[in-house]
Amino acid sequence: NSVLVLNGPNLRRLGTREPDVYGAASFDDLTALCRETGRRLDLHVEVRQTDDEAEMIAWVHEAADERIPIVLNPAAFTHYSYALRDALAQRTAPLVEVHISNPAAREEFRHTSVVAGVATGTVAGFGLMSYVLALQAIAELLAEQSR
Ligand code: DQA
Repeated sequence: NSVLVLNGPNLRRLGTREPDVYGAASFDDLTALCRETGRRLDLHVEVRQTDDEAEMIAWVHEAADERIPIVLNPAAFTHYSYALRDALAQRTAPLVEVHISNPAAREEFRHTSVVAGVATGTVAGFGLMSYVLALQAIAELLAEQSR
C-alpha cells in the first residue's frame, strides 16, 4: 500500500523557519520519520513538498486517479485555497489533514481550514508526531477496509 505525504509552502524550511512554532527538526528529518513510520506500518511512503499551488493540485489529481491515500499538510493553502479543496474533493481514498502547530490556538486567519470539510479527519498540534499519527490512522483505515 502506497501513501503520499504532501507538504505545502515553506515546509522545506523546517528547522530554520520559526523554530519556536515549528520546532528544530528539518524537512529531511520529517522525511526520514515518515519513511521509518511507513516501514513500521508496512506502507510505502513517498514524501513531497512544493511552494506551488499548481504542482500540489497536480499531485492530488495523480493520487485521485490512482486512489492513493494522502497525508496532507497544506500549510498556508489550508486557509484560502478553494482550488486545492476542489481537487481534494475528487478523491475517494482516505485524506488526513495534518498540522505541526495547532492552528486553532494561533492567529484568527488560521482558524479556518477550507480543506477540513473534504478530509477524512485532521491531526494538529503534535509537532512532527502529527504525521506519525496520521500515517497510523491511514494504516488502520486500510486494514479496516480489507477486513
Ligand atoms: C501549518 C499551519 C499553517 O497555518 C501555516 O501556514 C503553515 C504550517 C502547520 O503545520 O502548523 O505553513 O500548516
